[in-house]
Amino acid sequence: MFTVSAGLALLLGAAPLLAHAQSSGNVSSCPGYTLDGLQETASGLLAQLSLAGKPCNAFGTDIANLTLAVTYETPDRLRVLIADAAGAQFMLPEAYFPRPTNETSTEDASDLVFNYDAQPFAFWVSRRSTGDVLFDTRLVSLPAAPTTALDGTPLDSFAFVFEDQYLQLTSSLPRDANVYGLGEVIATSGFRRDIAENGTLQTWWARDVTDPTNENIYGAHPVYLEHRVDTNGTASAAHAVFLSSAAGADVVLTTPAGANASLVQYRMLGGVLDFYFFAGPTPVAAVAQYGALVGTPAWVPYWAFGFHLCRWGYLDVNETREQVANMRAAGVPLEVMWNDIDMYHARRDFTTDPTSFPIDEMRTFIEELAANGQHYIPIVDAAIGHTANDTDNYFPFISGIEKNVFVTNPDNTTYIGQVWPGYTVFPDWFAPNTEGWWGEAITNWSDSGIEFSGLWLDMNEASSFCVGSCGTTGNLSDTTTPVSLPGDPGNLVTDYPEGYNSAIWGPSGNITINGTLTFGNDTVVASSAGFAVPDDELAASTQFGKRADTLRNLNVPPYTIHNGFGDLSVHTIATNATHANGFVELDVHNLFGYMEERTTHLALLKNQPDRRPFLISRSTFPSTGHWSGHWLGDNFSKWAYLRYSIQGVLQFQLYQIPMVGADTCGFIGNTDEELCNRWMSLSAFVPFYRNHNQRGALSQEPYRWDSVAEATRAAIAVRYALLPYWYTLFANASTLATPPVRALFWNFPDEAELLGVDLQFMIGDNVLVTPVTAPNVSNVDGIFPGRGNVVWRDWYTHEIVNATAGTNTTLDAPLGHIPVHIRDGAALLLHIQPGYTTNETRAAPYALLLALDGTGAAFGNAYIDDGVSNPGVDGTIANRSLTFTVGNGTLSVRGAGEFKVLQPVARVTVLGVSTPPTNVSENVTYEADLGRVNITGLALDLNEDTTLSWA
Ligand code: NOJ
Repeated sequence: MFTVSAGLALLLGAAPLLAHAQSSGNVSSCPGYTLDGLQETASGLLAQLSLAGKPCNAFGTDIANLTLAVTYETPDRLRVLIADAAGAQFMLPEAYFPRPTNETSTEDASDLVFNYDAQPFAFWVSRRSTGDVLFDTRLVSLPAAPTTALDGTPLDSFAFVFEDQYLQLTSSLPRDANVYGLGEVIATSGFRRDIAENGTLQTWWARDVTDPTNENIYGAHPVYLEHRVDTNGTASAAHAVFLSSAAGADVVLTTPAGANASLVQYRMLGGVLDFYFFAGPTPVAAVAQYGALVGTPAWVPYWAFGFHLCRWGYLDVNETREQVANMRAAGVPLEVMWNDIDMYHARRDFTTDPTSFPIDEMRTFIEELAANGQHYIPIVDAAIGHTANDTDNYFPFISGIEKNVFVTNPDNTTYIGQVWPGYTVFPDWFAPNTEGWWGEAITNWSDSGIEFSGLWLDMNEASSFCVGSCGTTGNLSDTTTPVSLPGDPGNLVTDYPEGYNSAIWGPSGNITINGTLTFGNDTVVASSAGFAVPDDELAASTQFGKRADTLRNLNVPPYTIHNGFGDLSVHTIATNATHANGFVELDVHNLFGYMEERTTHLALLKNQPDRRPFLISRSTFPSTGHWSGHWLGDNFSKWAYLRYSIQGVLQFQLYQIPMVGADTCGFIGNTDEELCNRWMSLSAFVPFYRNHNQRGALSQEPYRWDSVAEATRAAIAVRYALLPYWYTLFANASTLATPPVRALFWNFPDEAELLGVDLQFMIGDNVLVTPVTAPNVSNVDGIFPGRGNVVWRDWYTHEIVNATAGTNTTLDAPLGHIPVHIRDGAALLLHIQPGYTTNETRAAPYALLLALDGTGAAFGNAYIDDGVSNPGVDGTIANRSLTFTVGNGTLSVRGAGEFKVLQPVARVTVLGVSTPPTNVSENVTYEADLGRVNITGLALDLNEDTTLSWA
């Protein structure tokens, strides 16, 4: 049995597929639904919806009977579920997506109100406290559906459609609404989504692709935050809307011509409409309410906030080890060393190459790292190499076949794709034996000598280089065909660094600028190299099959979502491949990464229940954060991608996957000194801080250039000083779901001028980061929120910024310097002396920085534990929670919890003191120009409540 997308089959002249119900493609004739049988329940209502006329069968078969269930789950969360009465449509399985079901509330207690019209059925959700309508499928404020095209797609009807293969629901929004989320995407419009006439057409279909803009990429997140600023600044409010669905889908954001409203339209390839509304009213509260539903983020080990170094192309253990030595020699802190697939034997998971990465040397190397307080993270690809023949004894494949853990074709034969090892199979995370099998493979690897501290999950969209299936055992032409990798002869990475001055190199040497480049004996065409599989290989490996499902067209759903690759089975598993429980790939495609993250996290926990698993993964879905962090994928070594990395980090705060960061200095193509310098500075203020590079590109470790090494040391010194703050923000995320990194308007919701700011960001409530994001400049413009009512102090000098209220201020930012500012009223617990590792940093005493507000007050808190033990899903571990309250020249420290904090506070710095302290001495200094009191030589014990005065 072979599988292939029908689009390709038709192209290549294959027999047409079985006939389906004829799709009209005409949504405007869809009849809508009528509500009846309404029953009020203790926490909401139940009703039936029946098709109100002749089926339109626009892109599938209309479903005549639906159920509507409205539940006021908490005072700030409302669920509206519209499902087929027969229960045949795919829904997220509760076993893998547990929701806090014991929570029920009442309409009276809720700030969100569900309202409906029975005929034709429509609903709207309003905010009780303001009367604002937040979501409205009546579409009263929209004109008749326009016929104008949106990104080539006619927006021809707002009808409510519920078919087996097409669901459509439209809500009007305020004109030019401020909408964020709905990714994963790199939006050229920025963090705030484009909702103008030709606004946004976002697709949700997980895809392995070198970072394009405005297209679907690795993950699918059908959640948005909408923020409405009240011009009087008194009733600004945010809410969030989550469509709990894994369906491949398009979502449209637009403002139809002539309308005084905008709209959001969902177009899904299946499933049900399972909406959750979150009341906010602050942006941070709305994001946290979403987190409370999908699961709070996994606890992050302390060491994971250190600096990570990686590249594709450390070709042996010695080269890997050299990086560690070079970083040490340059005095650039390195916490975690990574290896990419170079380490594998035959590019297969859970192996090491016996020649280049001999297991004994790897064991020694990892032990050396551990002895120095450093860590090791290897890669795990999603696909498992298929053995070449009977003597090829690759245990993960052989045992996986025995245990039935792989995705199958509709006829139950093993589904075969192709990734780096050649032909591969794919774990079926829904199969009963998969977790045990996967856990065993991981444990065997670790026991054999790869004693990792965390794992890197790659290629889990899942990526596969055949279009659809590559065939089945016995019908595979050649299992040893190697895939050409970047950096291989004929596949060199030859693009010029973006800031490169061609006049310097062009005329000399053997490189020409236009057209063909010559490097030694290889002649290649200048391009930004990707790692495409040659077309003839694709064609050769492509086979044909038929779909399993006679009711639905699994191969080519009648509605075509705007997948960047076109056909849904391109570069991934075919949509008719099957999983346990009768699930088909079409329904569960977007869940592959999530399921792998969950399975891996649970497998690690089983092996070491007391230790926090640490995962970084590529393909994500709502709830991923509960199990894993994320890196932003295959970006380019370009200034634009440095800028995009900020919206990426902000998006993933909203998606509740806060441990996120970009490939610093850029992955694809050749970086340069200035770009790498600025990017190393920026990423030091982002949760996940890793430099990663493509095979074959110019080396970009921070020690390669003196200026980059210096900038990195300076930025890491700030990062490591702030670790107690970062750690506390992440503890809050894991317990309260509050996002650690914030868009400026999240903290200042009344200031409309902040709605589009996405080149600055805040860490928690108190730290504002204004990175340089362009080449050849030595200053940067940034806005200082608060409209003049907040005092911002420079992190480095403690000077007050002379900021212009409500608009940009220009700051000095020579190369190597990243502006960072502290908000007044903040009390920050810091490490006094950043060390080479986070362990060394933690071993030194603490310091306190107290930035007083105009009333002489400051407040802060800190959470401290051992940094590695696993608090478990709902449990806690020994910890100490501290509050720092300042008023009237006195600091009061209060604590709770049994964790013994070994390091005292050795220094307290107070900013904003206008009267000199009475007890000035060698240990108590005062600088009138800065209003700074510095108290040194202290040994404040954080295990006890304390006060300290300077007035
Ligand atoms: C794709 C990943 O996105 C990239 O980071 C990695 O280096 C390559 N796969 C090779 O494993």
